Amino acid sequence: MSHADVMIAGGQVIDGSGAPARKADVAVRGDRIAAVGDLRTWTAERRVNAAGRTVTPGFIDVHTHDDAALFDRPDMTMKISQGVTTVICGNCGLSAAPCPLHGGVDFFKLLTPKPESLPRSVDELLDRVDFAKPALNAAFLVGHSSLRMRVMGKDLGRVATPSEIDQMRDHLDDGLDAGAIGLSSGLFYPPAQAATTEELVEIATVLEPAQGVYAAHMRDEGDRIIAAIDETLAIGRAGARMTVISHHKLGGKRNAGRSRETLAHIERAAATQPLAFDVYPYVASSTMLMKGRLAEAERVLVAWSEPHPELAGQDLAAIAKSWGVGLEAAVDRLSPAGGIYFMMDEGDVRRIMTHKLAMIGSDGLPVDRHPHPRLWGTFARVLGHYSRDQNLFDLPTAVRKMTGHPAEVFGLSGRGRIAPGAYADLVMLDPSQVIDRADFERPTQASDGIEMVMVNGQIVWRDGAATGARPGRVLRRQALLDEAQTG
Ligand code: ZN
Ligand code: CU
Repeated sequence: MSHADVMIAGGQVIDGSGAPARKADVAVRGDRIAAVGDLRTWTAERRVNAAGRTVTPGFIDVHTHDDAALFDRPDMTMKISQGVTTVICGNCGLSAAPCPLHGGVDFFKLLTPKPESLPRSVDELLDRVDFAKPALNAAFLVGHSSLRMRVMGKDLGRVATPSEIDQMRDHLDDGLDAGAIGLSSGLFYPPAQAATTEELVEIATVLEPAQGVYAAHMRDEGDRIIAAIDETLAIGRAGARMTVISHHKLGGKRNAGRSRETLAHIERAAATQPLAFDVYPYVASSTMLMKGRLAEAERVLVAWSEPHPELAGQDLAAIAKSWGVGLEAAVDRLSPAGGIYFMMDEGDVRRIMTHKLAMIGSDGLPVDRHPHPRLWGTFARVLGHYSRDQNLFDLPTAVRKMTGHPAEVFGLSGRGRIAPGAYADLVMLDPSQVIDRADFERPTQASDGIEMVMVNGQIVWRDGAATGARPGRVLRRQALLDEAQTG
């Protein structure tokens, strides 16, 4: 007779491939799924009644800045509470390692309030995450801006010299050897703005033997977005197994509607080169508070401010007015600071999310005192608001965008699907109840309807609370490639 450690019985199983739901039991043994189907004859240590519930693979948050959160707050409640079981870290060119040898770079405050304590190498970073035993799994990209800051110090307003490019390539190579799965860049941001396409192309060639991915926060997400997409594609072609356009969106009123154009452009390119993109389900973006972004936003909220922590959550225009200064002067007084920018068109967000190449990524910033609600709400919002309530796409399609599709794109072998032999990263949700509760006023609320979350066979979230189990693992490149071979 067959025996399971945990039997999730009688649920509607959505396997992550996009296939329709079907009624099935899911047997978990150790850290893996042992069987899927009619398993009434099995015995089990523990039974979870899934009648009336939907069982899906655990969600993969493909766009995060959780590098340091994994050891600063390893419970990772903001993610497991919405069903996320794996996060991809190191996005937007900013990875927690390698980190500048002489510290003092404000940019790293996007990741942690204590940038001086960040590990020096990717190897050390991955070990530190392992040691912290986070509640969920994590895979890492090496950030181009981090490479630049490590090699060029604070002298970032110029193109790197050939010898500096060589050093960046060496650091990337070391990172890939240690287990990173690819490279990210953030050519939009000051540490990388001066980098040329050629600088990135030369660095990206290191990805080829490693089968690494390339993820890009593009140089421009507004008027010049088509040129920025072409630059991203060219860098990806230099060596990446897969190119990912990060948080695809269009900023500014005058670019509203242009996702028709960008998606057509992306689709043409995808016919000749492996390509995907991620998107978060909101019309507001969030990053450092920057003067350059003010013009395109209709409204700006302060997410955090080092000199004025008490103003987190306040409207920038109201702050400026109360101080009797202009918006730019207010930004100067508040910096270093984070901002939330209302700058997108709802129609574009929907069109982008609906596209078959779209994956879901939160882009949440866990250190923000008053974060963008995407940190806590992204996945439940796609499932409850956009799929069920707005009927933008069916539930199996929504689930595929956060499980099977990203697992393929990032090469996460054994993740993102419900099948015998796959890892037991699972979510049980109530499809009629699932919804995000985090909003712009109260952004740190757990979602509703996510009833059980399992990571590597252990339950980490049950009935609205974390169980305290922390079975997460670092997903290292070589192990993923080996598993792809044997699995
Ligand atoms: Zn970004
Ligand atoms: Cu990002």
